[in-house]
Amino acid sequence: MKTIQVTITKTKQTYPIFIGTDILKKITSLFDFTKYTKLFILTDETVAPLLLRDLTDALPQGTKTCILPAGEKAKTLLTMQKIWEAMHKAKLDRKSLVLNLGGGVITDMGGFAASTYTRGIAFLNIPTTLLSQVDASIGGKTGFDFDGIKNLIGTFSQPIGVLLDTRTLQTLPQREFLSGFAEIIKHGLIADRTYFIKVTKKQPLDYTTNELIEIISQSCAIKQQIIEQDETEQGKRKLLNLGHTIGHAIEAVSLTTDTPLSHGEAISIGILAEAKIANILGLLPKKEIITIEKALQHAGLPTCWRTTTKWRTKSTSSPFIPQILEKMQSDKKNDNNEIRFTLLEQIGKGSINKTVSTEVITQVLATL
Ligand SMILES: NC(=O)c1ccc[n+]([C@@H]2O[C@H](COP(=O)([O-])OP(=O)(O)OC[C@H]3O[C@@H](n4cnc5c(N)ncnc54)[C@H](O)[C@@H]3O)[C@@H](O)[C@H]2O)c1
Ligand SMILES: [Zn+2]
Repeated sequence: MKTIQVTITKTKQTYPIFIGTDILKKITSLFDFTKYTKLFILTDETVAPLLLRDLTDALPQGTKTCILPAGEKAKTLLTMQKIWEAMHKAKLDRKSLVLNLGGGVITDMGGFAASTYTRGIAFLNIPTTLLSQVDASIGGKTGFDFDGIKNLIGTFSQPIGVLLDTRTLQTLPQREFLSGFAEIIKHGLIADRTYFIKVTKKQPLDYTTNELIEIISQSCAIKQQIIEQDETEQGKRKLLNLGHTIGHAIEAVSLTTDTPLSHGEAISIGILAEAKIANILGLLPKKEIITIEKALQHAGLPTCWRTTTKWRTKSTSSPFIPQILEKMQSDKKNDNNEIRFTLLEQIGKGSINKTVSTEVITQVLATL
């Protein structure tokens, strides 16, 4: 088992990320649950039949459980209300602990519910998708989608720890597994060229278990180093938004269709779109775009929204381009109504706070 210790520089808040295989059942030897008055597990309908029993068997008796519908469509205020109701019904108090067992939707929503219930109680993340293991469960961004905008309502609130059991990935559908590689590739692109080469050398399913654990650990370490220095996204943390300015808008629009993209798929398209923008602005050489496009495709990820969904259209008059632009206008990353991007200067080096004109964005969206 590996341990990565996260220490937020400003607040000195510190917590461990435990990474290993078959460590879920050892959870009581990794965390001290005796100091909490009540334990409350939040999970979803897909994860519950697969992993809930393993967790409840490992925890003290009397642990309460709340099971939510699965997926991004459930990341709503209505679901949040149900979580708060369940927390209240379970009589959680300020010394209770919420355990989030699931993908990024569960860790985001459970973190938000805990950080607001009675002005904030402790939570522990047990991510069960590759995407949530390498990204969503670490760093303390919590929240839910609102008014058609991704994660519009949220808090920065750190977990007391993260338990990452790679065995949980055995049941993950291939599409969700590949989705996690979008964030893994992003980590290489923004921070480390050698890591980018390592994680794109093989197709995702061809990495051995040990190689995968190594990749998960390295991605966690890249994210840890960034968020430690900038918990609340004043500067450096914006690097992690690569691919997300366009990706979040595409994801949100796709959710209104009957062929929604997964988060990672939308981010993959966003990464390529933003690489093209960086090239138009004279930041990123053309050959780097080709390398990025090939790497994403090799990982089985989409790079074009028109062919991945049924929302096929042929020209810039696509009804989806104005919708995507509109979503971007209300993005929480904007500053003074200007759309801000994190763009690449080269593979392994991102640059934050780049403003891009609507014309350039439209021009690139029309090529996707
Ligand atoms: N807070 C952050 O810093 C951060 C970072 C990246 C992404 N996110 C958020 O994370 C979400 C995406 O996360 P995700 O891709 O994990 O989505 P998800 O939570 O919807 O999980 C994807 C699907 O996999 C299922 N699943 C989960 N674990 C499983 C398992 N072990 N076996 C079989 N099925 C399993 C889920 O039920 C769901 O249907 C988005 O809402 C995104 O905004 C947050
Ligand atoms: Zn993401």
